[in-house]
Amino acid sequence: MVCIRIVCGAMARIMGFGGYAPARVVTNDDWAAMVETSDEWITQRTGIKRRRFAAADESTMTLAVNAARVAMTDAGVDADDIDEIILATDTPEMMTPDTAALVQHELGCRNIPTYDLGGSGCAGFVQAIDVAASRIAVMPKRILVIGVEVISRMISWEDRATAVLFGDAAGAVVMSPDQGRAELLGVVSGTDGGSAEILTLAAGGTRNPFNEKSLLSGDYNRLVMDGKRVFTEAVRRMSEASVEVLARVGRSMGEVALVIPHQANLRIIDAVRKKLGLDEDRVYVNIQEYGNTGSATVPFALWEAVGKNRIADGDLVVLTAFGAGFHWAAAALQF
Ligand code: UT7
Repeated sequence: MVCIRIVCGAMARIMGFGGYAPARVVTNDDWAAMVETSDEWITQRTGIKRRRFAAADESTMTLAVNAARVAMTDAGVDADDIDEIILATDTPEMMTPDTAALVQHELGCRNIPTYDLGGSGCAGFVQAIDVAASRIAVMPKRILVIGVEVISRMISWEDRATAVLFGDAAGAVVMSPDQGRAELLGVVSGTDGGSAEILTLAAGGTRNPFNEKSLLSGDYNRLVMDGKRVFTEAVRRMSEASVEVLARVGRSMGEVALVIPHQANLRIIDAVRKKLGLDEDRVYVNIQEYGNTGSATVPFALWEAVGKNRIADGDLVVLTAFGAGFHWAAAALQF
C-alpha cells in the first residue's frame, strides 16, 4: 500500500545548520584488507572512496549531540531555547528509551518533549522536518531536528555488497516558526510498507529477539538488503517526490539552485539528476568522502553545502531521500 502525505504553504524556518563526522577514516583499501573487495569495485559501483567510523567511545547519542551543538551555535540559541527534539535514526543508542531523551539530558535542555523517528531508514530526517513543521504549525516552538547513524555497528562485516556502502555521521537543524535563513515551503512524503522485507534490520525486535538462539546463529546486528531493488525504487521515488514537492509549492525544476539527494550510491544520484534534467553543479554530492550515512546524509550535506557557500540567499533548494520501509520524502527550502 502506498500512502502520500503532503504539507505545503509557509510552514517553518531553519535558523541553524550542524553536522559531525567521526575522525576515523576507513578507505576502500582498508576494506579490501578485510574482505574480498577492491577500491576499483567500490569506486565504480558506488562512487565511495572513504567513510568515517565512530570511535569506541562514541555512540549515536554523542554524534547527535556534537551535530546539535554546531546547529545551535549557528542558530545563536542555547539549550534553554530548545522546546522539542525530534531525532531520526535506525541505529539508536538502545531500544528504550529513545536516543532523543539522552540527547536532551546531555545538551542540558529543559524537560521538553523528545521523540525518535525510528525505522524510516535514510528518509528519516526529511520526514522528521515534516513532523517538526506540523508541530510548529500547531504551537510555535523551536525544534531541534537531528538525523544520525552509527551504522558501522549494525553491518555484517562478511556481506561485502552491503558493508562497504555505509558510514557514521550526524546532521542537525534548529527549526523555528519565524526565524532563520531558510523557509520550508513544503514536504512530500510517502510509504510503501509492502516493500518492507527488501531492506531490514530485523534482529533485536519482537520478530527475532536477541536471545541464545539468535546469538548462536549469528543472526544479530545484520542489515539485510536487496541492493538492486532498492536502487530502482530509490531513483524512481526520489525523482518523483522532487518533482511533486515543487508542483505543490508552485515552483519548477528550472528555478532550483541545488538538489541535495540522499547519498546512497553515486549511480543512484546520477540517475536522479538525469531524470530531473539537471547539470552536475546543481546536485550536491559528498558520497565519495562519507559513504551512505543513512538519515544523516541529507542534514550533513545541507550543513556542508551551507558552509561551503554552495547555497546563496534567494536560492531554492530541494532535499530528497529514500530508505527502508520503503519510505521517501522531498522538501523545498527557500533561502
Ligand atoms: O540508502 C538506501 C539503502 N541502500 C541503497 O540505496 C543501495 C542501493 N543499491 C546499490 O547501491 C547497489 O545495488 C549495490 C552497490 C549494493 C550493488 O551494486 P550492483 O551493481 O547492483 O552489484 P551486484 O549486487 O549486482 O553485484 C555485482 C557483482 C557480483 O558478482 P557476480 O555475481 O557478478 O560474480 C557481486 O558478488 O559484484 C560482486 N560484489 C562485489 N565485488 C567486490 C558485490 N559486492 C562486492 C564488493 N566488492 N564489495
